[in-house]
Amino acid sequence: MTLRTQNPLAYHREVRLIDEAATVSLGQQLAQRLSAPQVVYLQGELGAGKTTFSRGFLRGRGHVGSVKSPTYTLVEPYEHLAEGPVFHLDLYRLGDPGELEYLGLEDYLSAQAILLIEWPERAAQQLPRPDLEITLALSVPAIPAVTAAVAGRIATVRASSEPVLEGLGGA
Ligand SMILES: Nc1ncnc2c1ncn2[C@@H]1O[C@H](COP(=O)(O)OP(=O)(O)O)[C@@H](O)[C@H]1O
Ligand SMILES: [Mg+2]
Repeated sequence: MTLRTQNPLAYHREVRLIDEAATVSLGQQLAQRLSAPQVVYLQGELGAGKTTFSRGFLRGRGHVGSVKSPTYTLVEPYEHLAEGPVFHLDLYRLGDPGELEYLGLEDYLSAQAILLIEWPERAAQQLPRPDLEITLALSVPAIPAVTAAVAGRIATVRASSEPVLEGLGGA
């Protein structure tokens, strides 16, 4: 705990993600570099690619099968992965702060797990600080003719140490 406060996310990399597959690949690469416990914040507008990243991440942790967006359930647990549990949260629809407690946040945190958290800003006061932060944005400014689907994305990855960022690529 002390380490976290002394070790903010001082290192960052920008990664160009030309298409959906590149977003999946970035998730997969990072999944293979982290060991639990780990809190990962996923930031960016609706449609930026947070769930797509999570899909790649879960695949990188050995999950086979589909990945459901936790939009309505708020949390989707992946508890039987060989490399340890991953909890995928989407707090966009979080109501009052007490709801997080009800969802079992404390249990996830004590489970030697990895937490992937979309919309962490909805519960800023109750969440632990992130060990890794991914911010996704459209890679071109808003031009009417360029829709989100073809725009590609830029990911900014922030970490507390440099090795986790080395050689990250979008493909
Ligand atoms: N690098 C990318 N380039 C273009 N489209 C992408 C990219 N990454 C993801 N997408 C697309 O963006 C859309 C929204 O993604 P999603 O992961 O659901 O966003 P979020 O969870 O941030 O709301 C999906 O249709 C997905 O295929
Ligand atoms: Mg999402």
